[in-house]
This record gives sequence, C-alpha cells and structure tokens, in this order.
Amino acid sequence: MAGTATIETTTNGPRGKAASQFLQGGPKKLLIGGRWVAAASGKTFETVNPATEEVLALAAEADKLDVDEAVKAARKAFEDGKWPRMSPHQRTRTLLKIAEAIDAHAEELAELETLDNGKAISEAKNIDIPAAAEAFRYYAGWATKIYGETNPSSPSMFNYTLREPVGVCGQIIPWNFPLLMAAWKIAPALACGNTVVLKPAEQTPLTALRLGELICEAGLPEGVVNILTGFGPSAGGALAAHPGVDKVAFTGSTEVGREILKASAGNLKRLSLELGGKSPNIIFADADMSAAARISMLGIFMTQGQVCAAGSRIFVQRAAYDEFGEKLAALASGLKLGNPLEADTKMGPVVSREQYERVLGYIGHGAREGAKVKTGGEPASLGRGYFIKPTVFVGVRNDMKIAREEIFGPVAALLPFENEDDAVFQGNDNDYGLAAAVWTRDISRAHTVARRLKAGTVWINCYGLIDPISPFGGYKQSGFGRELGRHSIDLYTQVKSVFVKL
Ligand code: NAI
Ligand code: MG
Repeated sequence: MAGTATIETTTNGPRGKAASQFLQGGPKKLLIGGRWVAAASGKTFETVNPATEEVLALAAEADKLDVDEAVKAARKAFEDGKWPRMSPHQRTRTLLKIAEAIDAHAEELAELETLDNGKAISEAKNIDIPAAAEAFRYYAGWATKIYGETNPSSPSMFNYTLREPVGVCGQIIPWNFPLLMAAWKIAPALACGNTVVLKPAEQTPLTALRLGELICEAGLPEGVVNILTGFGPSAGGALAAHPGVDKVAFTGSTEVGREILKASAGNLKRLSLELGGKSPNIIFADADMSAAARISMLGIFMTQGQVCAAGSRIFVQRAAYDEFGEKLAALASGLKLGNPLEADTKMGPVVSREQYERVLGYIGHGAREGAKVKTGGEPASLGRGYFIKPTVFVGVRNDMKIAREEIFGPVAALLPFENEDDAVFQGNDNDYGLAAAVWTRDISRAHTVARRLKAGTVWINCYGLIDPISPFGGYKQSGFGRELGRHSIDLYTQVKSVFVKL
C-alpha cells in the first residue's frame, strides 16, 4: 500500500555539502545587472520544504522598483552591451559552459529541487537537471544557425532578411519544473542574443538562483540575465506590464495567462503562453495493456501529477475498462510515497499547502459528483508534509468537474468510450488542448486519431516524451506560441527585410 513510509527528522534536510552551503547564510538575493542585491524594500519571503513544512531559506521579495532596475539593466545590456553583437560562435561556447556547469553541479541542483519542490530525488536527478543542461546544449547549437533568407526581387533590387533578437525578455515560470522551465526560457533567448529578466515561482526560487550564480561564473556579460524572486501579482505583474520589456514568455495557469495577455497590451509585447491542460490519454482495447497501464500511471503521477501535460483524463475502450482500472489502481497503490530525498521514493508531497488543499478539494468534489475512488482519495498520514495518495477515480463522466478542470495533483479520472468517434469527441470536449495520447496496435487508427485530436502534442503508444528538438505548446486555452525546437528561435527573434537598390 502507498503511504506506509515514514519521514525521519534526521533525514529530511540537505545531505550534500554543496546544497547545505547554498542554503546557509543570509537571505537569497536578486540578480540585477551582474550583482546580487537585496530587494529595494528590504522585504523577504520564506521558501518551504513541502515534505516537512519547514522553512528552507528566505528569498528577496522583488516588487515594481526591483523590476524597474532589472529591466533597466537588461535594456542597457541589450543596447550597449556586447552580448547581442557577440559572434554566434562565442555565444555557443558560453551556453555550452552553462550546460557543463549544470552537469558539474547536478547532485546539488537535484537536491535543492527536491527540497524546494518535493519531487522524488530520482526524478530531479534523472529528468529535471539533465534536461535543463540539454536545453542549454541544444540552443548552444542554434546560436550559429539562425539564418535569414534572400528573396527573389526585381533585377534592380536585392532583398534579404535578417533575424534579429527581440530585445528585453520577461520570463515568468512555474514551480513544477523550476530549473527546467528556467532553462527552456533562458537558453533560446540567449542563443538569439536577447537579454532576460526571469521571475521564478515564489514556491520554488532556489534552483533558478543557483543557476544565476552558475551563469555569472560562465562569464556572461552583466545584465544579460537578471533573476527576480517574488510574488505573482507584484513582481510578475510589474514585469508583464513593463513598457521596457519587448517580449513576455509565461508558463503557468490559464487564469494568470489571461492577466498577462491584458498586462502586455500597453506596449504590445510579443507573447507566448504555455498554460494548463486536461490531456486525454486514449486507450483502445487492442493496445498493449500492460505497457499502457504502466506508462499511463507515470503519465499522471509523475511529479505528483503537477505537470501541465499530465494525462489526467484516461479514456479506456469499454471492453477493457474494468481490467485497465484494476491494473492502474494496483500500480498506483504500489508507488512508494515518502521522503523525496530517499533514492527509492516514487512520490513526494505536492508543492504547497495551497496546492494540497486544492487537490483534496477536487477529490471531495469527485466523490460528491458520483465518481468512485478506486484507490487513494485521501492524504497520506506521514505526520507532516503535503502528501496525497495517488488517486484513481472510476465511473467518471466527461462533464464532471474532475474531468473538466485542471487538478494539478495525483488524481487520475478513468472514463469509458465506445469507438473511435466517441474517443475523439470526448477527448476534444474540453477547453484545454495541450497534449493527448493514443494507444492502439492499429497503425492507421493511431495516426488518424492523432490528426483528429486538438492538442499541441500527441503521443502514440507512449506518454510524456518531451525533447528540445520538438515543439511544445497548446491548442485552445492551453496557450499559444510553441517553445522548443526551431520554434523557440521564432519566438525570440524578429525578422527585418532589407531592400538594396542595385
Ligand atoms: P500561477 O499561474 O499563479 O503561477 C505561475 C507563475 O506566474 C508564478 O511565477 C507566479 O508568481 C506568476 N504569477 C501569478 N500571478 C501573476 C500575475 N498576476 N502576473 C504575473 N505573474 C503572475 O500558478 P499557481 O497559482 O502556482 O497554481 C495554480 C494552478 O495553476 C495549478 O493548480 C495548476 O492548475 C496551474 N498551473 C499550471 C502550470 C503549467 O505548467 N501549465 C504550472 C503551475 C500552475
Ligand atoms: Mg496563482
């Protein structure tokens, strides 16, 4: 059964010397113009370990004044500094240095991520940290491959295009993959020659700050990357509305995405929004059921289900529905829940008390709406920490709240479907469109369903694969703009057309 593990006081603090050292000393500061400074207001806030509910560190609480300073520094670095005009080869080398620094500090970063976010250390080590290094490595390669074009103008004219950086980029990121989201944002912006003001989520400021130190050590000119810890409406809101910011990239809730869209209207900022999801994971009766169950389990329970692309609506063809429910529930209840610093822990706590209450609220709602808890459905009583048992609901209808809204927690809704048309209809019948999956041995049906699903990413006979080579982003209210691959280069450059009279 899940929830049998206990947390001992002696084992829940940082274990590595490097992570302990980073957490010691005074409050964490803001990175502005190459210097680490306190917030202008002098205010700080606490960042909490969700496994123990203990304060890990204090971080500077940036507000409008600090945003002004950071934007000024980023503007100066963009207009007068050498980064945008540096040889692309040199930019490649700098980004590679950052990737190497992440690799060299992988243990420390993984530990800080687990302490701050609550995700299992095995996930932080095997996914978050190496993927962050990979993003820097991938975009290091792009710096030298940002081409313009020559266009077929009249014989007396020569026309070509230049792809130029956008300018100062405001980047606001969430708490579910703190370092990885920072990397997805910073790496392509830098590859294109932009400067950056990054605001990490208030729940998880630590790894972005450590990354800031590594970036400074890699020799990036001052002011190119600025990092402001602080709250959403104050620091994030000021950044999104700032007239000195040319582009905003946001990952987070659809609700805040709408606020950012409004805030960006003042100076018509370029905007990319990667928002919520309620992704359908569709399993036909002819699929490899044991693979489908195993991977779908990871698809919803990884990072405690706090994943924008989580496969939270699992549709199973009627003939296989009961069998699949049994399999998934057995796998879920076998997950080891507990101290996320333990190597064999599979699930840690959710990120915060707010998220804990929100998820439990949805679970209560599901039961009241008539869905049946097959496993989980309650907190794991470990004494403290925001632990929730992996939960599988059966007998869910697509119009129930637990099937319509993003829960962002370890809660799977299992829904039956009859045939291909029904699966596609129900799968698409939601305001979100971030991702989807289809499991079948019928190759033609797999590709047909992939085409019919309104989602930015479709996985066939797999789930959750994300690779910097391939675009990621949403249809419908899951946002707009695509990150990763060459698409991030489009987001972080603008095109200039030059006419030459011959
Ligand atoms: P959120 O959308 O409020 O936070 C994401 C980031 O936006 C944080 O850095 C936050 O400080 C910032 N922010 C908040 N309000 C802002 C504002 N008015 N202007 C500018 N920036 C602002 O997400 P939250 O409240 O932490 O989680 C609530 C729900 O949002 C979750 O339960 C989940 O459903 C969804 N979510 C989705 C994510 C995704 O990856 N798509 C990530 C995080 C949350
Ligand atoms: Mg919020």
